Amino acid sequence: MNPLVIIVMGSKSDWETMSYASETLDALGVPHDIRVLSAHRTPDQLETFLAESTAKGAQVVIAGAGGAAHLAGVCAAKTTLPVLGVPMKTDMAGGLDSLLSTVQMPAGIPVATFATGRAGATNAAIFAAMILGRSKPEFDKAVRDHRDAAAAKVLGVGDPRKG
Ligand code: RP5
Repeated sequence: MNPLVIIVMGSKSDWETMSYASETLDALGVPHDIRVLSAHRTPDQLETFLAESTAKGAQVVIAGAGGAAHLAGVCAAKTTLPVLGVPMKTDMAGGLDSLLSTVQMPAGIPVATFATGRAGATNAAIFAAMILGRSKPEFDKAVRDHRDAAAAKVLGVGDPRKG
């Protein structure tokens, strides 16, 4: 199956965080493609990749970037696919710069912005599967199963003094 989700990140240095998005999509059975493409270093190649991926059937974009993090916004400008932004943690207040750069889109070009770091990357992947699940029941089921597994893990702890 062609990729239904594409993950882009501004730098190889973002991969440690964005690998959680890929792992989660794998766990949910969502075919995806991944590229390092920068809004400011490779804008033309980014646009080409978005267009080619859309033509091949991609339905959701997950974009991770840090600092003056405009990657998700540029993706949103270049496609009408839903764009899920993941701000990287940085040395500035844990990634507050990335978070504000990603979330504060002017009216008209939305980016759905997630938490910084691992939580954001993981949740963006789950959210992508939830979007796909509206039209493809297997992904809705995968999300439900994922939640059930998480609940079982919590309940399995019981009294933490005994672990
Ligand atoms: C952004 O600048 C990237 O998304 C990355 O988070 C940050 C730093 O990039 P490198 O200097 O590590 O390549 O474009």
